[in-house]
Amino acid sequence: NRVINAAILGAGTVGGGVYKLAQAMEEDIFHKTGARLVIKKMLVRNVNKERKGIPSEILTDDWNSIINDPEIDIIVELMGGITPAKKYVIEALNAGKQVVTANKDLLAEYGEEVMSAAEKSGNDLQFEAAVAGAIPIIRPLKQSMAGNHITEVMGIVNGTTNYILTKMTEKGMDYADALAEATELGYAEADPTADVEGYDAGRKIAIMASIAFNSRVTFSQVYTEGITKISADDIRYAKEFGYVIKLLGVARNVDGQIEVKVHPMLIDENHPLATVKDAFNAVFVHGDAMDDAMFMGRGAGEMPTASAVMGDIIDVMRDIVCDCCGRIGCSCYKKLYVKKIEE
Ligand code: NDP
Ligand code: HSE
Repeated sequence: NRVINAAILGAGTVGGGVYKLAQAMEEDIFHKTGARLVIKKMLVRNVNKERKGIPSEILTDDWNSIINDPEIDIIVELMGGITPAKKYVIEALNAGKQVVTANKDLLAEYGEEVMSAAEKSGNDLQFEAAVAGAIPIIRPLKQSMAGNHITEVMGIVNGTTNYILTKMTEKGMDYADALAEATELGYAEADPTADVEGYDAGRKIAIMASIAFNSRVTFSQVYTEGITKISADDIRYAKEFGYVIKLLGVARNVDGQIEVKVHPMLIDENHPLATVKDAFNAVFVHGDAMDDAMFMGRGAGEMPTASAVMGDIIDVMRDIVCDCCGRIGCSCYKKLYVKKIEE
């Protein structure tokens, strides 16, 4: 039985979810990859804090004990922020480890630097969970929709603000109470300013625009306006006229001129985006060959986000197991899988 060891940096909402999923899916992961996944270590700030379901002996606050452990093949960065996440991700890639991250702050600001570290090292850097939680959108933009000239990517890409706006619209809840609930449910960022001011959505739309338009869009180039100025009256008036207010991220590529912005918008109550409620997200993509495509699902929270992270981990494990050509993204695992069934 081949064992692949991983270390998770962070044991918060998402890190805790990924640990749980790794335990619950143990046999399934083995059948999907041909290897056993062991979470050998989890990096935290406070090793004394009790973490339900996580054995205390795998917790550490010492990065060196992870980066210098030759048995650890995969680093799963779920701490968030830039410092020290950027340093750890780059050191991990340079040390020959495969990296999975959900860190949109890092990718939207230093994507070029971390991706070039991945390219130079020849190691995987996967980040499906960084945009729109459980919704597969990074891989479709990179792969399945690559046969298009993509001119627009837009949608609801922040679960916290969508949750707040839904509760204010449907239950007449106070902004502050709805934000407190979203935080309690694990949707909000460590500093929820990033959610409510539109920065989180701005980071996600910058990442998607970079991939979709094959260019480099950073967060600083995104116009952002959040939901903090939206009052209960605004929501009531919109409702009276048959509209709902949604925070939208929009990226357009018109003849090479790229425009990327985030702001609240009035949406007709019969439009598909009006039906996207609570922490759900939805992304529309327009490509010249395919026309429109829409992706919808849970955009935040413990297990939905953990599912996207685990998808990346499984992908990386398949790359490690498959030694046919060493090419990242090689799909020979399919042959391996068929072989196993035939046996
Ligand atoms: P949390 O704040 O819940 O967890 C962060 C974890 O990282 C904690 O366990 C914390 O340790 C640890 N940590 C933070 N800084 C350090 C450090 N310097 N050294 C060691 N450990 C550190 O965050 P989330 O789980 O919500 O988010 C993690 C990442 O996933 C972020 O990048 C976020 O943007 C992204 N994300 C989150 C989603 C969500 O729905 N929550 C959805 C999609 C992406 P300690 O517990 O000791 O403080
Ligand atoms: N805070 C983010 C949100 C988490 O509410 O969408 C998911 O990226």
